[in-house]
Order: sequence, then C-alpha cells, then structure tokens
Amino acid sequence: GPVVPDARALLAWYDRHRRDLPWRARPGETPDPYRVWLSEIMLQQTTVAAVKPYYERFLARFPTVEALAAAPQEAVMQAWAGLGYYSRARNLHACAQAVVARFGGRFPAEEADLRSLPGIGAYTAGAVAAIAFDRVAVAVDGNVERVISRLHAVEEALPKAKPAIRALALALVPRKRPGDFAQAMMDLGATVCTPRKPACVLCPWSSPCRARASGEAETYPRKRAR
Ligand code: ADE
Repeated sequence: GPVVPDARALLAWYDRHRRDLPWRARPGETPDPYRVWLSEIMLQQTTVAAVKPYYERFLARFPTVEALAAAPQEAVMQAWAGLGYYSRARNLHACAQAVVARFGGRFPAEEADLRSLPGIGAYTAGAVAAIAFDRVAVAVDGNVERVISRLHAVEEALPKAKPAIRALALALVPRKRPGDFAQAMMDLGATVCTPRKPACVLCPWSSPCRARASGEAETYPRKRAR
C-alpha cells in the first residue's frame, strides 16, 4: 500500500461515503458561497444534527446575502434563537452587510479578503475558499486536527501543534477538487477517525497512518497534561 498519504485515495473514499448534507452541493452542482459561509458559521460550535433545521429555516427566511444584509437585526437574532453563541449572529449580519457594501454582494474567493470580514477567521476563510471556490486551502477544525495528527503521529501537544498541523494539512491538498478534499477530511474525522475506537479498517489512509502503525491511534492528538 501507499507509504505516503494520497489525496486520490481519500477522494475515492469520499465519492463512496460522502454524507448528503443540505449545505453540500451535489456532484456536478456549483456551490453557493452564501450557503457555504452560513453553514460553516452555524457548524462552528454546533453539531450537524442540531444545525440542519436551523439552516433550512434561516435560508427560507434569508435566501441571499442581500436579503440578510437588509433584514433588521432583531429578525436575524430571532432566526438564530436557540443556536447559542449569539456573537455569531451579530457578526453574521455585519458580514452580510460588508459583503454587500465592499464586494457588491459577491463573497470574495481570496482567503485574505474573506478574513477581513466580520466573524471570519482562519477556519472559515479556508472552508469558504476551498468549498465554495475550489481554492487550494484548508479548514482545520477539531476533526481535521485529529486526522492529521494521527496520520503523521504528531508528538507535539495541542494547542502548540496547531501551526504544524495546519502546514501538514495544506501540504496534502490536491490541485484538483480541493473543496471535496476539505470536506472529505471533515467526514473522515467525523465518521472513521473518531476520538475513541477509530475504525482504522475502514480508513483510506490506514496504510500510511503512523499513529495506526504505533498501535495507539487513539492517543493522538497529544494534549497538554492538565
Ligand atoms: N463541519 C463543519 N463544516 C462541515 C461541512 N462542510 N460538512 C460537514 N461537517 C462540517
């Protein structure tokens, strides 16, 4: 088997096992940057199952970035009520207004431009650049951190290891299908490379995975002793 992790092996796995989620473009469809951004903001501190009904209702109420920008703040807060972390909703509204005012209602594709917008940090900028615009970019959340730290048996503990993990993730991104690759890493972390009892026999990267070779996959990522 491969001794080096291969993007094609992960993409082939994704083609068979991708989760059908409401914010995901189906194969052959063009993603809507507004929908990608909205879903990534909602998913930051909230589970996929909890986000689904909110996402559908929110989109029905505010179908475009222009509609969201033009809405009264109270209407936005009301649509968000129950999701928690309400600074996300205030930033969401401010971000929609900035996209309209500064970018003519079109989300920018460049990570640096995305990061200049309210509520968009490194994670969200990478996610939108990759998923909505198919740019070579990474969206490193907790799931992806686990996948990468196991794959390379990163011995440095979190949070210190974050920049190294990000660099290792970026090095794996293929020129073709970077958006699918980003989501494939998320799905692999959520469904196979799980915190406890990872299903290594189902993993497309089991043969190059150095944590699996150690027999102690579960012990990665290393955490600082508390
Ligand atoms: N968690 C965060 N972003 C996600 C996405 N695009 N798909 C699935 N889970 C996610």
